Amino acid sequence: MATVRKAVPRRLVRLASLRAVSTSSADTFPKQVKIVEVGPRDGLQNEKSIVPTAVKIRLIDMLSEAGLPVVEATSFVSPKWVPQMADHTEVLKGIQKFPGINYPVLTPNLKGFEAAVAAGAKEVSVFVAVSELFTKKNINCSIDESFQRLDMIVKAARATNTAVRGYVSCVLGCPYEGKMSPAKVAEVSKKLYSMGCYEISLGDTIGVGTPGIMKDMLSAVMQEVPVSALAVHCHDTYGQALANTLMALQMGVSVVDSSVAGLGGCPYAQGASGNLATEDLVYMLSGLGIHTGVNLQKLLEAGHFICQVLNRKTSSKVAQACSKL
Ligand code: HMG
Ligand code: MG
Repeated sequence: MATVRKAVPRRLVRLASLRAVSTSSADTFPKQVKIVEVGPRDGLQNEKSIVPTAVKIRLIDMLSEAGLPVVEATSFVSPKWVPQMADHTEVLKGIQKFPGINYPVLTPNLKGFEAAVAAGAKEVSVFVAVSELFTKKNINCSIDESFQRLDMIVKAARATNTAVRGYVSCVLGCPYEGKMSPAKVAEVSKKLYSMGCYEISLGDTIGVGTPGIMKDMLSAVMQEVPVSALAVHCHDTYGQALANTLMALQMGVSVVDSSVAGLGGCPYAQGASGNLATEDLVYMLSGLGIHTGVNLQKLLEAGHFICQVLNRKTSSKVAQACSKL
């Protein structure tokens, strides 16, 4: 396993702690944001070569040490569909479970749910989409069938006292069907919420959205689901993830998914690139004076670690800027 070079300069990290000039719009932002780190799952699921289990475990431990309150650890999907996540049980059992940190895992069906609970999962994430074609490509069923599977998971979760988070994919556009209607996103989100998901993460799966579309979509969803139960999950394919997230924050959303070093993508969404980089999100939130509890220095070290192992340049602008100093 590669060693972690303590190469992250502290000057830019300190800059992030400078308070931005107070503006009237800043008053509308939440005072605190919960960051859901999805790098070990969304980030690594898309890697072509299998990342060693020990590396995944080390990455998750480093993210926990950085103070992320939620780290999505892996997914209990079919290894034939996503071979990269085949070591889910070893990963979940191998990580240090820091007190106060949640380690949800993705489950597509009852089989995945049961395996996750047997491996010690206390929280699972289920996923549906607004688009029929994406649902078929991603989980090989229709939207209606995906809700039937989900119903089984939710009932089993209730019996085992397992928390369930829900994802809605393609909320700002689909790789196969194009534009998505905000009303349809609202309908799917409401259904997930009423079935018992405590939080609904709205995914711009292929990163095509812009802030105006985010605003229209959120306005529709917020009529059906309380904003306190909403999260946004922006991929950065068109460089809009930070701007879209800022719009969501201005509208009162206080839970944001992101991925260390901007890793990520969905193997069944053509053209999807990585998620919003957690480093860039933390830098922006810190500049706005919004509390996250995340130590940017330690987060940069985690990003540096995984990029070294993957032999790739980070997609985080903040990490790139820090490495130049
Ligand atoms: P299928 O082939 O239709 O399933 O796949 P099946 O029920 O016919 O079973 C086929 C085989 O898979 C059987 O094994 C099952 O036992 C096995 P066989 O008899 O052939 O040896 N199987 C399983 N094995 C392990 N774990 C399981 C499991 N289920 C069945 N849970 C299935 C249907 C849903 C399983 C498949 O399509 C699948 O795993 N899809 C997952 C795709 C995926 O992981 N996509 C990425 C995550 S979603 C995402 O990234 C979006 C998100 O980030 C938000 C956003 O950005 O929008 C969340
Ligand atoms: Mg995603």
